[in-house]
Order: sequence, then C-alpha cells, then structure tokens
Amino acid sequence: MELVIRNLHAQVEDQEIIRGLNLTISTGEIHAIMGPNGTGKSTLAAVIMGNPRYQVTEGEILLNGEDVLQMSVDERSRKGIFLAMQYPNEIPGITNADFIKSAMQARLKEGEYVSLFKFVKEMDHAVQDLKMNPNLPHRYVNEGFSGGEKKRNEILQMKMLKPSFALLDEIDSGLDVDALKIVGENVNQMRSDTFGALVITHYQRLLDYITVDVVHIMINGQIVKSGGKELIERVDLEGYDWIKQEMGIEEDVEPKRTIVLGTCGARKEK
Ligand SMILES: Nc1ncnc2c1ncn2[C@@H]1O[C@H](COP(=O)(O)OP(=O)(O)OP(=O)(O)O)[C@@H](O)[C@H]1O
Ligand SMILES: [Mg+2]
Repeated sequence: MELVIRNLHAQVEDQEIIRGLNLTISTGEIHAIMGPNGTGKSTLAAVIMGNPRYQVTEGEILLNGEDVLQMSVDERSRKGIFLAMQYPNEIPGITNADFIKSAMQARLKEGEYVSLFKFVKEMDHAVQDLKMNPNLPHRYVNEGFSGGEKKRNEILQMKMLKPSFALLDEIDSGLDVDALKIVGENVNQMRSDTFGALVITHYQRLLDYITVDVVHIMINGQIVKSGGKELIERVDLEGYDWIKQEMGIEEDVEPKRTIVLGTCGARKEK
C-alpha cells in the first residue's frame, strides 16, 4: 500500500501551518520526521488522521489512490491509518480492553465477530511484550495513567489493531530508558511488507531501536531535507541551524505582534 501526500497546505485558526508538504510512504518502510518545536509535525499527523480542527486548503492525501481527505476519521482508521498521539486522550468510563475490542470489531465485515478467546490471548501477549502492568487493559482508557503508561498504551493499541500505516507522534517522550527500549523494539518488530510508519521524534535515542529507511527534516511546515540515518546523528549533534543555512530558510515567519503595556508604552514581542 502507499500513502501519498502532495503539496499539502493546512491551517488552524486561519494560520497556515503546513505549507506545501510532499511525502510518500509505502508499506514495508519506516520513515522518521524530525524538526524544531512548532514546525507542524503533530499538525501533519492530525491532518492525515482527519482531526476536524485543521483545515486543508490545498493539496491531496491518497491511500492507494483513494482520496483520504474525503474520508471520515473512522473510515481512515478502518482503512488502516493509525495515530499514536503526542498527548493521548483519557476516556473515562470505557476500559482499554473494550475500547480496543470495539475498534477491532469495527474493522470486520458485517456478521463477523472478534473471537473473545483469541482477543484475550492476543491482548495478554501484547501486554507482556510491552512489559505493561497487567491491570492496565482493565482500567479506563488512559485515566490516571502515568505519562509513560499512556505512551505504552498507544503502542498496545497499535499492536492489536495492526494498521497499515502508523503515525507515531513522539512516542518516546516521557519514557524511561527501559521503556524506550521496549517501545522501540516493539515498533521495530512491526516491520513487515504490510506495515509502514511515520515516526515523529526529537532524538536519536528512539531510532537506536527502530530501523528507519528514510529521515525527513521538517521546518516551517515543509519537508526541507530527506536522507538516511546520518541526518539523525547530525541533528543530534548540531541541531537545525546548519539545515536552515544550507536551505536559506528564514527564521519563523510569524509576524511580530505589538504588545501594549498599560498606558505607558508598547514593545515589539521577541
Ligand atoms: N489547535 C490549535 N490552535 C492554535 N494553534 C495551533 C493548534 N494546533 C497547532 N497550532 C500551532 O501550530 C504550530 C505547529 O504545531 P505542532 O503541534 O504541529 O508542532 P510540532 O512540530 O508537533 O511541535 P513539537 O515538536 O513541539 O511537538 C504551533 O505554532 C502551534 O501553536
Ligand atoms: Mg508535536
């Protein structure tokens, strides 16, 4: 399968965040996206998944040639797109196990049902693989979970739902070193001809455990450079200034606002 993003422009509250982004991911590949804070990485993931807060103003997203932008969020999910969120939501009143089982059920044809026996067995395995607390599947989704538990829970959902394309938004943030290794290895084990992923991260650490095929650098809502693992190492050591210089990219394009300081003056915001 192939996920193709062409000349994507997207905005939130009348502010353009994604500014002409192109990206193609095929199953069998794992891509990483790195980039400074506020550059639009989470926005990109949200737009691919269909978060209604973001408006696409130009461009297209195609899944095997089908227009993703015309699909509802649940249709995108059923077609195999999965998002592990940077800040996972809590859903009080619904247990993790019920939540995942419902999502699996929604993927089946009418008249087909998730086998409870198989589900429980698979869930137990996934929980063990992720070295999660065995109680977590029976608690309400993310409610009262620690930061690291929430991140592991996103990966648990991914393992159970087996998406074709997983968008993993900073799944490493908040993880301790042992959890980072476990999560990284579990993502890497998903590598197959029927699975592709876009891993958003700030650090090399996670990518020590995940074999990535391509690394993209995103600045100001565009992918400005793509390459191999050497890019990760250089960003880790030197940050992004060298890329901005190489590409002739200006600092943030947001207009400076004037702040009125009471009655006695005004200053330009830095
Ligand atoms: N719902 C929203 N309302 C207002 N502004 C938003 C909203 N969502 C995103 N933005 C703005 O869009 C810009 C891009 O945000 P985004 O979360 O995509 O960045 P990011 O690259 O994921 O950053 P980080 O590395 O810090 O996670 C930011 O300036 C952010 O404040
Ligand atoms: Mg983000």
